[in-house]
Amino acid sequence: MAIDTSVKLVNDMDHPWMPLRPGDLRGPCPGLNTLASHGYLPRNGIATPTQILNAVQDAFGMDPDRAQLLAYSTMLVDGNVITDLMSIGGKSCLTGPDPPKPATVAGLSTHAVFEGDASLTCQDFFFGDNHSFNPELFDQFVDFSNRFGDGFYNVTVAGELRFQRIQQGIATNPQFSLVTPRFTTVYGEAAFPLVFFVDGRKADGRLSMQDALGFFRDSRMPDDFHRTDESKSGGLVNTFIPQIFGAHPTQPGRNYGSVNTFTVDPNSAGLDADCSLYEHFVNDIVVPLYPNPQGVLKDNLNANLGFFFGPFKQGNCTRIFPYGQ
Ligand code: HEM
Repeated sequence: MAIDTSVKLVNDMDHPWMPLRPGDLRGPCPGLNTLASHGYLPRNGIATPTQILNAVQDAFGMDPDRAQLLAYSTMLVDGNVITDLMSIGGKSCLTGPDPPKPATVAGLSTHAVFEGDASLTCQDFFFGDNHSFNPELFDQFVDFSNRFGDGFYNVTVAGELRFQRIQQGIATNPQFSLVTPRFTTVYGEAAFPLVFFVDGRKADGRLSMQDALGFFRDSRMPDDFHRTDESKSGGLVNTFIPQIFGAHPTQPGRNYGSVNTFTVDPNSAGLDADCSLYEHFVNDIVVPLYPNPQGVLKDNLNANLGFFFGPFKQGNCTRIFPYGQ
């Protein structure tokens, strides 16, 4: 049977928003936080990549390739590949016994593997808390939406605010870093609210401040919220990303220990570099965490690397086998 990708009610009776219980974990992703607070993911914030893959499609209409790439890339660096569990927030004993170091298995909030600088509503890691909703940054989100979007977060606002957060990082964070893969994800994440946080019956790329606050601060869908049409969401995100980038094109790079020392990194993949992004992720991020895996760990790493490669296959990238075939 064909999968239903249509617009549908997702804030429904089976998925009521509930407040956090002691011990429930949330992290830097307002999308996954919302899924957990509505019970599309386990409410404690510990999930398998399959649960994440299904939930982002079912509740937000995220396109399967993007969902697969996100779910398995983060699993490989932030999750426990032996137990198949990942925290959507900080480190947790609920993901089971850790594989040997230097693996960290420290959850989605872990800095510099996937989580990174220049978030729209969270502070940079350098300033202490890299994963909580930051009210001052949300004030800036509102201010930009008023100035550039008539009170809505739209693609023009996204282009201006994305650039502003990068400029702020360069000017205030001595450790500011915007290299692969973060250089790519900052543009995708600025586009996501335009597509996935806007009611699918409207799908006009304009997010109200009330709805934005619900998602970003409270992990909560608006009443009667309908997901967007999955068959169109991938195309929309892919249209918005170059528009956001094109408003103020930037290059990957970092500050070197003091503010305003931003230097372009010529070795970091740019926005369109799909295969080098894939290769960098496997060789320079996954392998250093798992230099010499054995047994089940090795088997499961290989399986997850295979799932992660899936979306790149269509881009004619060549699969890498760091642990043999
Ligand atoms: C498929 C699985 C997903 C994973 C593993 C994931 C992971 C993450 C991570 C680690 C971050 C933090 C990056 C940072 O700002 O440092 C993030 C940010 C973000 N995610 Fe997700 N995400 C997923 C799906 C989604 C979905 C479905 C949505 C929208 C419904 C979404 C919306 C966002 C937004 C808007 C941000 C940026 C927040 C900000 O800049 O303040 N994500 N995500």
